[in-house]
Amino acid sequence: MRDYKQGVQILNEGYAKYSKHGRAWVSPTILCQPTVMLAPSHISWFFKQPEDVLSNKVVQASLLEAPYVISDRLFENPLHNDIIRKDLTRNLESLTPGIVEEINVSLDEVWGTDTETWREVKVLETMQKLAVRTASRALVGLPLCRNEVYLKNAIHHAMGMALGGLVCRLLLPGVLKPALGHVAGLPCRYFTWRSYRLLAPQIKQHMEAIENEPSDTSNPEKGSSYSTLENIVRASLKHPDPRERSPWAITERVNLLNFAAIHTTTFTLTNLLFDLLSSPPEKQYVERIRDEAATVLQGSNGPWTRSAVARLYLADSAIRESMRCSTVGGRGAIHEVMSKEGLTLPDGQFVPQGTYLGLPFIPIHRDEEFYPRPDEFDPERFLEHKPSIAILDPEKDGADRADEKSVSKKQALATTSETFLSFSHGRHACPGRFFAAHVLKLALAEMLLRYDIQHLPERPVGKYISDFMEPPTKATISVRRRKATTSSSGLQAEKAEEIVNGNV
Ligand code: HEM
Repeated sequence: MRDYKQGVQILNEGYAKYSKHGRAWVSPTILCQPTVMLAPSHISWFFKQPEDVLSNKVVQASLLEAPYVISDRLFENPLHNDIIRKDLTRNLESLTPGIVEEINVSLDEVWGTDTETWREVKVLETMQKLAVRTASRALVGLPLCRNEVYLKNAIHHAMGMALGGLVCRLLLPGVLKPALGHVAGLPCRYFTWRSYRLLAPQIKQHMEAIENEPSDTSNPEKGSSYSTLENIVRASLKHPDPRERSPWAITERVNLLNFAAIHTTTFTLTNLLFDLLSSPPEKQYVERIRDEAATVLQGSNGPWTRSAVARLYLADSAIRESMRCSTVGGRGAIHEVMSKEGLTLPDGQFVPQGTYLGLPFIPIHRDEEFYPRPDEFDPERFLEHKPSIAILDPEKDGADRADEKSVSKKQALATTSETFLSFSHGRHACPGRFFAAHVLKLALAEMLLRYDIQHLPERPVGKYISDFMEPPTKATISVRRRKATTSSSGLQAEKAEEIVNGNV
């Protein structure tokens, strides 16, 4: 039970005592079976092991209690991974106007449009609305991404899935699972049914269109007509497993993606705002990220593009730093030993088949050897040359800023490594991270360009349940719509006026 309240403390103690000396150790956890935590020196060996030796898929299915809560078919045939990693990422350019539109429609709604009065808003709640809308715009498109019933249902489904898995795992002994496991899965199935009623007509339309195509015209780069849902339907229809080919199966897969996308993005945005707003005001991080966004937008002469977003270096570094400091899951990359004969770890210790192995994400992210001043939130940490306000000169073309060449790809937000694990690493690193990084940067840029936000005297503290950090759910910030910033083009006009008046 000590793990429930002090999960992170246990992790830190074990890390200092064993991991730092190259030894694996067993971490007790109430969230799943005891897990062997590996040392930093084991990481490259760990990620090289093939799926039949160490499997992450088996752990994911087991933590979500497939087949009781969701279908195990989703893990047996993870056809969505390539669609997200490749097709969605390749089509970010054409998706960008829609994503920006969704961010701004959400902000108008949840943060308001009043330019005179400050408004107090709950951060987690409002970021969740933004996250579910932008993810839905990319996954299922209009009009469903604006359908309140669909959006609420996506959130409820994700919660039903997580809670169903937890109840099944913690409260039902193995022998009772076949009889009672499906009861724990009922809320999740109910919300799947509700999504199905809304999604099925679109899925069927895609099915008909694909079946009536004269020849194989599958082309993931479809410009403005790109649809993730269509690609999922296409891949499902082609799949050798006939269970994949029904609108119900496809709905389940869309819901699994919602589960992967919504809470992760919500928590990241929530932590980011708290980290930035409570940073020392004299450092002017908020103002500098806002300036960077205005400069880049102005330099790209129009609406946001993929390459303009890629030039938001300070935003990129600040988000990565917030994800390092406010890592949501203390342990991660959990894999099960599959080989019958067990496995010998690099430190010589033997672990039998069925053992869970994982990495202590939080202690690695807070290790002074990898991150000097590890407890400091330093939004500039990943910039090689730290741009000053002077470097972010709005009169320079945004594409030609002095700091441009100094930002290393190795340190970019979506780049995983053995010491930056928020998107995990290796074969099972998050396939949605390129999309997520794009959305996070756009959301931060638009929030700061369109709103003034009051500084926080101190950072609201989240709650740990075992090693899982839930950001503060009720904490608020005060926001006020900035004048003349109703659209990205309005912003450019405002910026130009400021430059003319010498106010920047
Ligand atoms: C800030 C946002 C996000 C964070 C922090 C995040 C983090 C992660 C992490 C840590 C994993 C590995 C889980 C494990 O080891 O069991 C993962 C896997 C995954 N993520 Fe993300 N994610 C984010 C956004 C997204 C989005 C937007 C999508 C989809 C559009 C997505 C889709 C997935 C999928 C499908 C997997 C499973 C990959 C596999 O099984 O190989 N994620 N994510």
